[in-house]
Amino acid sequence: MKVLVIGGGAREHALCRSLSLDPDVTALHCAPGNAGIAEVAELHPVDALDGVAVARLATGLEADLVVVGPEAPLVAGVADAVRAAGIPCFGPSQEAALLEGSKAFAKDVMAAAGVPTARSYVCRTPEEIDEALDAFGAPYVVKDDGLAAGKGVVVTDDVEQARAHARSCDRVVIEEFLDGPEVSLFAITDGTTVLPLTPAQDFKRALDGDQGPNTGGMGAYSPLPWADPKLVDEVMESVLQPTVDELRRRGTPFQGLLYAGLAITSRGVRVIEFNARFGDPETQVVLARLRTPLARVLLHAADGTLDSEPPLTWRDDAAVTVVVASHNYPDTPRTGDPIEGLDEVAAQDEPHAYVLHAGTARDGDAIVSAGGRVLSVTATGKDLAEARSRAYAAVGRIRLDGSQHRTDIARKAAGE
Ligand code: AMP
Ligand code: GLY
Repeated sequence: MKVLVIGGGAREHALCRSLSLDPDVTALHCAPGNAGIAEVAELHPVDALDGVAVARLATGLEADLVVVGPEAPLVAGVADAVRAAGIPCFGPSQEAALLEGSKAFAKDVMAAAGVPTARSYVCRTPEEIDEALDAFGAPYVVKDDGLAAGKGVVVTDDVEQARAHARSCDRVVIEEFLDGPEVSLFAITDGTTVLPLTPAQDFKRALDGDQGPNTGGMGAYSPLPWADPKLVDEVMESVLQPTVDELRRRGTPFQGLLYAGLAITSRGVRVIEFNARFGDPETQVVLARLRTPLARVLLHAADGTLDSEPPLTWRDDAAVTVVVASHNYPDTPRTGDPIEGLDEVAAQDEPHAYVLHAGTARDGDAIVSAGGRVLSVTATGKDLAEARSRAYAAVGRIRLDGSQHRTDIARKAAGE
């Protein structure tokens, strides 16, 4: 099978790594990719947001499957362009990707499907904003309606800050605060059949102890030793299957990866958000634990035959990933700094720990930072404690001036 992956972050590096290890995959391409993906796939300098160019590339490569990684191309309709060219594509249509692209649309789908989520108001005017803030009280949860890479959400006890953020948005969702730990559960779907993956937990805040601003995600681990073993079945029944059924009923079936961001509250499971693609950095740990070869499952989701797939199987190993970010992230990051120590990780830590590139680029012989989240180190072990210590040993070998990472990823779950 010839596979083309669209995107160039750590999630796409993780996808390409798994696909490169899959005996069904005979050729692996990526556009635009990054300096790490170049080691496992052939890169093509094609704009991921340009559906016509992506479809042309896929046709020229005689790709059997295109996998669209990030949300921006999905929301721009790149999967539609690929399917229009007659090539199976893993990734939802522009219309179905609105589940991520518009928080108001997601709330509407959840209401219709009876999916439990935070009560919310969609507001446009200062009066509506004040009324909604008053109705819920602190802590305030204020979400920009559009795509904001996980950074359009403000959770605060300060009503002035909540109001200021709400007023800066064109359309804003203000909602009830959900207490309790967060879980990310992904499912692969062809629009009808839903195959759940294994749950993971992400660390959204920039600093240790869940302090600092929200980010795209600073680390993740799986499995979740503290979670109810029935969690996946429960979320399948109350969230994933009803959402997929509702989108099909509306004539906009969702094919691809449905990401449920959940809060395990004192009153039960609630959806915090949906995403229309693999999450980053959770994908790094979920794929590290996946035993089933990936390519055929993605193809069967893309061509509507997922019902022929047996349930996915998982390794007993635990996995931990730690994100290394640039100086100043999540504000405008400093880029162009050389990254050293990658060879040492390859020599001393692989295969138990390895580097997945996110914002990196080649500059002559050097690899330099080229984005906010620069790379993530993923490690496996017999339990979370072992995976964690391997991940941090490898992080310690990487030198990037001004870089930052959290030191407490999976600490509590590992019982440390
Ligand atoms: P989102 O972009 O919707 O995932 O929100 C980013 C982060 O904000 C989430 O991962 C949560 O940590 C937090 N958050 C979002 N919605 C709520 C809520 N209703 N209650 C509490 N925290 C929330
Ligand atoms: N890990 C959060 C996200 O992918 O949106």
